[in-house]
Amino acid sequence: MGEIVLAAKCTHVPTMLMSEQEGPIKGTRQPAIDGHMEIARRAKALGADTIVICDTHWVINAGFHINANSRFKGLFTSNEFPQFIQNMEYDYQGNPDLGDAIAKIASDMGVYTLSHHLDSLELEYGSLVPMRFMSRAHEMKVVSIAAWCTVHDHQESRVVGEAIRKAVEESDSKVLLVASGSLSHKIWANKDYAANNGTFTISSEFNRQMDLHVLDMWQRGDHATFLKMLPEYAEYCCGEGSMHDTAMLYGALGWDKYDKHCEVVTEYFPSSGTGQTNVIFPV
Ligand SMILES: [Fe+2]
Repeated sequence: MGEIVLAAKCTHVPTMLMSEQEGPIKGTRQPAIDGHMEIARRAKALGADTIVICDTHWVINAGFHINANSRFKGLFTSNEFPQFIQNMEYDYQGNPDLGDAIAKIASDMGVYTLSHHLDSLELEYGSLVPMRFMSRAHEMKVVSIAAWCTVHDHQESRVVGEAIRKAVEESDSKVLLVASGSLSHKIWANKDYAANNGTFTISSEFNRQMDLHVLDMWQRGDHATFLKMLPEYAEYCCGEGSMHDTAMLYGALGWDKYDKHCEVVTEYFPSSGTGQTNVIFPV
């Protein structure tokens, strides 16, 4: 019987890639890279063979969607930030049976979800950036779930999370579940970016204070209270992808029954106006 052996909320900022290139960003995102590798090491120790990533850069406008291809191989340039992520090579195995099972179970539970096996359906960088660093510590098969949900309710994403868990438990896979997205996500206005040293600052002190409070709640295991404020937090603090990645994560972990104490493995940091971190949700 399969199981989710570890879960995490992860950053995926493009400056993590630039942190390993010559230039003004070099070295500055090492704590975020180290956090990804630590999460992958822990997953390896727990026997994980597959990573399921809820990706807030895959935008969807109807239904829910899973990229369940058997292999992901290519050269990625971001259409959002082509100056930051260019020609990034990737090559990962997929877990099509698990992706298909998640879609079937979610649909059976009333949330229409399609699983796709298409070489032309590329992974987005909410999946590719974590995989780039995590794969150095542990090779895993990849299933990517769209989590930039434009017309969806958090309760539907909760069901997708419940389907992830059920599908994993009915499989023979051991899974690292990653919610790939930031905390607050108010990117600097284009005209204000440079004057505010935008790469390394947050655009709103209110958002920073809310993010720190949320991290405190997570570390105290007060998830039930966090879930009561999730809709407003996602709205007022511009949560990335409206935080559907987070709703899926909690759905898989038992929603407000989940009471474990989270572990921050990368200290909170601002990036391009947003709030970022890597946090382990023990299972
Ligand atoms: Fe992002």
